Amino acid sequence: MRVSVIGCGYLGAVHAGAMAALGHEVVGVDVDAAKIAALSEGRAPFFEPGLPELLAQTSASGRLRFTTELSEIAGCQVHFVCVGTPQKRNEFAADLSFVDTAFEGLLAHVRPGDVVAGKSTVPVGTAERLGDLLAPSGATLVWNPEFLREGFAVQDTLHPDRLVYGLPTDDAGVATSAGSAAKALLDEVYATPLSEGVPLVVTDYATAQLVKVAANSFLATKISFINAMAELCEATGADVTALADAIGHDVRIGRKFLNAGLGFGGGCLPKDIRAFMARAGELGVDQALSFLREVDSINMRRRVRTVDLAREVCAGSIVGRRVAVLGAAFKPDSDDVRDSPALSVAAQMQLQGAHVTVTDPQAIGNAQRAWPDLTFAETALEAAAGADVVLLATEWAEYRALDPEELAQVVRTKAIVDGRNVLDPAAWRRAGWTYRALGRP
Ligand code: UDX
Repeated sequence: MRVSVIGCGYLGAVHAGAMAALGHEVVGVDVDAAKIAALSEGRAPFFEPGLPELLAQTSASGRLRFTTELSEIAGCQVHFVCVGTPQKRNEFAADLSFVDTAFEGLLAHVRPGDVVAGKSTVPVGTAERLGDLLAPSGATLVWNPEFLREGFAVQDTLHPDRLVYGLPTDDAGVATSAGSAAKALLDEVYATPLSEGVPLVVTDYATAQLVKVAANSFLATKISFINAMAELCEATGADVTALADAIGHDVRIGRKFLNAGLGFGGGCLPKDIRAFMARAGELGVDQALSFLREVDSINMRRRVRTVDLAREVCAGSIVGRRVAVLGAAFKPDSDDVRDSPALSVAAQMQLQGAHVTVTDPQAIGNAQRAWPDLTFAETALEAAAGADVVLLATEWAEYRALDPEELAQVVRTKAIVDGRNVLDPAAWRRAGWTYRALGRP
């Protein structure tokens, strides 16, 4: 099938490659010429494991091309809208300008019977409005949220744990005939994952839009829950990692997303819970989501607490102290620094008078653009040279595997703050280090 992908960021670039891998003929469109130039040469414009291989394989097949010209989507039967919906400046609400621009552009090129599949995360009610906008063209809007995780984006797109279609419905809540036809077309697009048994939930617009923000809110809540427990552990001398292991054995709770530490960041969880709260307020049900305000606060307190821990190990002051921050990306296997807890803590310490050197295997370029005043180093050993305290802020495999004896050779003071609870405290203490972590004695 001929499909277009509008917006080639972390979501769209991977989606375009994955659609080509599924055998479709794909054109990816983005307004960013540099991004399109890279993708056209088969290069990934950001770090995502498996994406370069996916692009190489699918570009060679001739089924995948990229352009800045929206008119080149003409002739495609299915159009995936994958543009960003960042948080508005000085507001909690989502900025829908990229989505609106994409739909206005689409209107000129879609034909009757085409399907437009909305993948961007939007406030509930947006699909209804966009569906009306599209109606005169004869194309049908399906809301088809995306659940990929950065770092696992290729795997998550090719083998999703579920697919969700939000179809247009009549007054009785039944899919319209155009909706049913659109479903059949999407079933063809996703024939491979569906044949592998990937669960499909077919529902209405409102539910499909809510599924995405509900899922992200649940994940954020789970992380903040364990981080709230970490605060209790800090007050009582308990160990949050043992607590998470113990409660995680209950299958109703589960161990995943119970890693206490610096908390969540990135381009999705923080802005999605905020946009969800803003939308609930508009709908007159803000009370239903007031707990998310607490989820957000708990998350932000972890950053403050981490700076405090660094201060404690520096005998009460970080002014003039050398701090090595290991990690700048919001999570390992990504170069994304959007709302990165690691970078936020690094910047805070710098603003409070410390001399901060940050390192990251992939995110230094993005981090440097966001915080040019910080000092950057290529490796953990370089960053830690002469350090009074080392902070592990993003749990890249190479930082988890650091040898305390080797790192001890370069630092000034053997003090480490484990912001992700991934190091073995006993091993580091045996090597003479002062080891501190969030929620652990
Ligand atoms: C998230 C959702 O997981 C994904 O389904 C959605 O499509 C987009 O948003 P992503 O932003 O890539 O994906 O990252 P995720 O793996 O969810 O991690 C988010 C943040 O939570 C990271 O900063 C991570 O370090 C943090 N985290 C995660 C924890 O602090 N503790 C955990 O136990 C898990």
